Amino acid sequence: MKIRPQTAAAYLRRISRLRPALAIVLGSGFHHFPTHLRVDKKISYAKIPGFPKPTVAGHDGELYFGLLGGTPVIVLGGRSHFYEGHSMEHCTFAIRALAAFGIRVLLLTNAAGGINTKFRAGDFMVITDHINFMGANPLRGSLDSSSKGFVDLTDAYDAGLNKLLFEAGKRCRIKLKRGVYLAVSGPSYETPAEIRAFAGLGADAVGMSTVPEAIVARQCGLKVAAISCITNLAAGRSNKRLSHGEVLATAQRVRTLAAQLLKCFVQLHSEAAARR
Ligand code: HPA
Repeated sequence: MKIRPQTAAAYLRRISRLRPALAIVLGSGFHHFPTHLRVDKKISYAKIPGFPKPTVAGHDGELYFGLLGGTPVIVLGGRSHFYEGHSMEHCTFAIRALAAFGIRVLLLTNAAGGINTKFRAGDFMVITDHINFMGANPLRGSLDSSSKGFVDLTDAYDAGLNKLLFEAGKRCRIKLKRGVYLAVSGPSYETPAEIRAFAGLGADAVGMSTVPEAIVARQCGLKVAAISCITNLAAGRSNKRLSHGEVLATAQRVRTLAAQLLKCFVQLHSEAAARR
């Protein structure tokens, strides 16, 4: 029988007393962040009804309830990807569960290849908009009476949250880039011709995640922000060959900085919430 996101949300309510409004999904590069948390509960995805079981190295599949300063947060360490063969519904189940739990603000993070010729490996890019090139939409088939599929994505990435990300960058002395993230299904990397075409379409970075989650989160009414760690230059943008090893090596190199950035963002977000 199909597990409903509400079932996962009810399970999450039972395992911790914390009631965070903010959740963060950690992609490659950002996995060091939980070291900043006062962890209340850490639980393997395998124990949460309906949650995906990640199979890719560097994605651990743990959900954390924790406090950063006084702010409660849920952190998802790992995600399932379309390229693993999962359905779009499965890839976005955790987002629906978070929404059913009561999360209002979602920060998505990922690793991406740099298309913009000004980008370097190790840069961070605030996602201001996306291009969905995955060949699938997670809302397909969800046009029933209870969920509206014709979601407006004009302001998919929240301008107020982006401002906080840039402020967080300043606090951590990291100059953040901004740009358009283009999502492909993967798992192969792109050809140089594809990257030239994507540049022509207005893409600054390319990756294999985030877009389905952002679309579903917007359908659920969450505010969304997203940030990429540019782990490599995209195909043909340097004379290097691409490898998952390079992606993981850059992710490892910048992990402390990436975690600090997220920490500053959470602090600024709670300061802003306190002012409202
Ligand atoms: N292409 C697609 N996805 C990626 C890349 C890339 O170059 N780097 C990290 N994720």
